[in-house]
Order: sequence, then C-alpha cells, then structure tokens
Amino acid sequence: MLGNETMIEESLELNNPELKKKMKAVEVFAAVIAYFKKDLLQTKEQRGTTIKEKDIQWVITVPAIWDLKAKQFMREAAKKGGISHDQLTLALEPEAASMHCRRVPVGITEESDGGRNIALMDVGSKYIVLDQGGGTTDIAVHEVTGKNTLKEINQACGGHWGGITVNGEFYSFLIKLLGGDVINEVKINSPSDYFQLLYNFEHVKTSFTSEHMADSNQHQTIRIPISWLQSYQMVTDCKLKDAMKQGMYVGKAYLSGADKLRIKNSLFRTFFDYSIDNVTEILASVLSKRELKEVETILIVGGHSKSTILTDAIMKKFGSRYGVVIPKNPDIAVLKGAVLFGFEPDIITSRVARYTYGIAMQRPFISGVDPESKRKFLINGLVDNVFDKHVEIGQVVNIGEFQKDHDYVPASKDYKGVHFEFYATESKNPKYVTDDGCSCIGVLYFELSDKSNRKDLKLKLYASGTEIMAVITEKSTNIQTEGYFSLLG
Ligand SMILES: Nc1ncnc2c1ncn2[C@@H]1O[C@H](COP(=O)(O)OP(=O)(O)OP(=O)(O)O)[C@@H](O)[C@H]1O
Ligand SMILES: [Mg+2]
Repeated sequence: MLGNETMIEESLELNNPELKKKMKAVEVFAAVIAYFKKDLLQTKEQRGTTIKEKDIQWVITVPAIWDLKAKQFMREAAKKGGISHDQLTLALEPEAASMHCRRVPVGITEESDGGRNIALMDVGSKYIVLDQGGGTTDIAVHEVTGKNTLKEINQACGGHWGGITVNGEFYSFLIKLLGGDVINEVKINSPSDYFQLLYNFEHVKTSFTSEHMADSNQHQTIRIPISWLQSYQMVTDCKLKDAMKQGMYVGKAYLSGADKLRIKNSLFRTFFDYSIDNVTEILASVLSKRELKEVETILIVGGHSKSTILTDAIMKKFGSRYGVVIPKNPDIAVLKGAVLFGFEPDIITSRVARYTYGIAMQRPFISGVDPESKRKFLINGLVDNVFDKHVEIGQVVNIGEFQKDHDYVPASKDYKGVHFEFYATESKNPKYVTDDGCSCIGVLYFELSDKSNRKDLKLKLYASGTEIMAVITEKSTNIQTEGYFSLLG
C-alpha cells in the first residue's frame, strides 16, 4: 500500500527495530526524480543543447494496477522532486508498452504465423499486454480502435510476481542453507560482500536460459564472497563445504573450490516457479472470461520477459491457442511508449473503471431503501453519508468525456463554501460511504460566490485519465471550479 505516509525502513535486520533508520518513501522517490531531472539538464547543457526547463514535459510511468493513492503519491514525489503539476503526465505502463508495439513492427516469435503482428492489427483486434517487470506483473487487455488508437477492455489486474521474486526465492534458499543468523552477520559486518552475492546471483539469473534446462544435471555457478563462508564458520563452528555434504540440498547444490556455489539447473529453475505459477494462473483466469474470448494474442513486455524460462513457460501453456509476441527489447518498450504517450495522450480512447467513485451526500430518508435504524441518526432530518455514485466499477469511461452531472444543494443557505468528499470502493453498489471497503480519496472545497439564496451546484467527474478530476459549477453564476483530489494521507 503505497501512499504519502508510507515509510521505508533500512533493510538491515537489526535485532532492535528501534535502531532501524526510517524515511518517508515519498522523500526517497522525490530524491530519485530530482536526480534524474538534474542529470538530464546537465547532460543537455554539456552537449550544448539549450532546453528551457519549462519546455520539458515529463512522463512518469506507473503500473496500471496501482491504486489512486499510489498514483497520487507519485505526483507528490514528482512535485517534491521539482516537476510541476502541469509539466507532468502519468502513463500506465502496459498502455505505454502497447503503444510502442503498435508503432514499431513487432512480429511474433512463432515463425509460422505472421498474422499476429501487433502493429499491423486491424480495428477490432484484441490482445493481452503482460508487463512482467521487476516488482509487478501488470495485465491489461487492449482493443485496436484505429490506426493510432487503442481502448482498454478489461480492468487492469496483476500482482507482485515480477523478476525480483526469483531473487527472493534464491534468498529463501540461502536462509534454508545458511540460517538467518549467518546472513545477518554478513549484512552487518560485511555489507558490501552481502550485496556482492546478491549481485552475483542477478548476473547468473539473467544469463540462465531454457537451453540450460536441456541438461538439468548441469550446474549454475555463483561466486560466494569469502566473508559469507567465514561468517558461516563463525556462527555454526563448521565449514559450509562440509555441511553441504549432508542436509536437504545434497545432490542439488555444493561448494566447489574455495568460493564457488554450484546449484543444479533443476534446483535453479525452481526459483522461477513462484513467478511463473502466479503469472500463468492469472493469465488463464483473464483468458477464460467470456467477454475476452476473441483475444488471440499475448504481448509480453518488461525486463523479466527477457527470460526464456518465463516466456517458454507461457508459450508452453498458451502457445498452441494464442500467438505469443515478445518485442526485441521488451525491457524498454514501456520507456519508449511513455515518450509517445507524452506527445499523444489521446492514443487511448477509453478505459475500464477500476473502482466505483462517488460523493458523500445527505438526502431525505427513503423507506425500503434506508434501514429503519438510520432514522435515529438523521442530521437536519436527512440521512447522512449516502454514497452518491458517479462511476461504477467495470464501467467503460471514454477519454475526453465527462460523466453526467449530479445536482447538489448545500444544506444551509448561509454556507460560504461547500466541501465535497470523494470516495472509492470496489463494490458495485455501495449505499453509504461508511460501508466496508469505501475509502475517502480526497476532498474538494468549493467557494460559493452567489450571495443570494440560489446556491444549487452541479458536479461532474472526469475519471478516464490516469487520475480523477472533478468540475463543480454554481448553477446561478456558471462559475466553475476544477480539482484533482487532495488526498488525505
Ligand atoms: N535476461 C533476463 N533474464 C531474467 N530476468 C531479467 C533479464 N533481464 C532483466 N531481467 C529482470 O527484469 C526485471 C526488471 O524489469 P523492468 O525493467 O521491466 O522492471 P521495472 O519496470 O523497473 O519494474 P516494475 O514494472 O515492477 O515497476 C529485474 O527483476 C531483472 O532481474
Ligand atoms: Mg515496469
């Protein structure tokens, strides 16, 4: 759950949690963004190109499955990092990748079927975009609506099954092999060696391919820094090399020479299981939806899709029924698409709402709708906290189109301004904003300018972009106010 108050903790597993250094995540993200900004401007200056800061439109990509708070978090981090609201576009990662692949001819890996080239797809063609990154698995379903346009036809879904889970499984293996105390010992006393082993693993992971599986008895070799072995001996009083001659990994992993950890391919392959099992399962569940039965193609992007271990597993399960497309540089498809999106944000013509959005309001009691128990809590004779729905989860929302206006009348004619509270929920028909699963995503204040008694307002939402905008109009004066939500923590 990423939000403006999220804290990041030092990763060292110190025994005393009080000693761990903590920082606000938004500060860390802001520092990274500020660094990139400075780096770009400096590089441009060194090369003699003068670009003015105000001429730059920045595009930051976020996973499509991020919730509103996380997206708002990214906006906040960008603001703190020195990028102003009007020079920032948020782009959804699978959409960016999809656009890139529509523009650049990307064929399919199965030579026999040339018909599934993403760029050449006709209007009406539907395909899945699987963005398999480091952290997230992001799945979107797109339909071609024109030469340069797409629409989203299914709610984005996914989970945390990206490439780092492979590293995570290796880490679990280390814990089982060495014990947590040994690892903590290395972390605290030899931090650079600690990271060196993880780095060595990353290197071996990214060069491990399906071809290695042709001989599952062969090994992968990871160099293990000497302080790991010393710490092991210090904590356990025996040598790792000897210890590995028994135990659960006999025949699967051993130490060779002074510092070579050899892991059999069959064991190494299991580090990918968690990611592959989850990704294939969710793909199967998306593809089994009746409304997506015309999908014929799976486009795979993201750094983790450079791994043939992953892509072959997907191919094996889905390749006979679907065309599986992997662009040449799947890791930078998102980046390149994001640049396109910065120039042409209208490429996406519609999206599917991920939440039901609405506003808290008061209205008269309705028998049969409101439970009798509500009668006890009427405020000025009205039922409080009613969820006034503007957008329903799963609804198709067109880009550039507002939702219908809803009318509101301030409870008192003496008000100088009105607060609107915005709520989101995954439920289709919430009754009250206090229902389980509803959360307040922001508050907008509207100052009333008409001093007479006619203070009726209307409010419409724009919920098809990568964030939500609301426009409030005072009916008597036609004065409008628009706002992006100020999120409450
Ligand atoms: N050849 C390869 N084989 C296996 N994994 C690889 C390979 N190349 C890169 N990766 C993995 O890809 C991941 C990074 O992918 P990518 O750059 O798409 O992530 P990201 O966009 O930063 O993450 P996210 O989409 O979760 O925000 C890392 O886990 C890296 O180990
Ligand atoms: Mg990514």
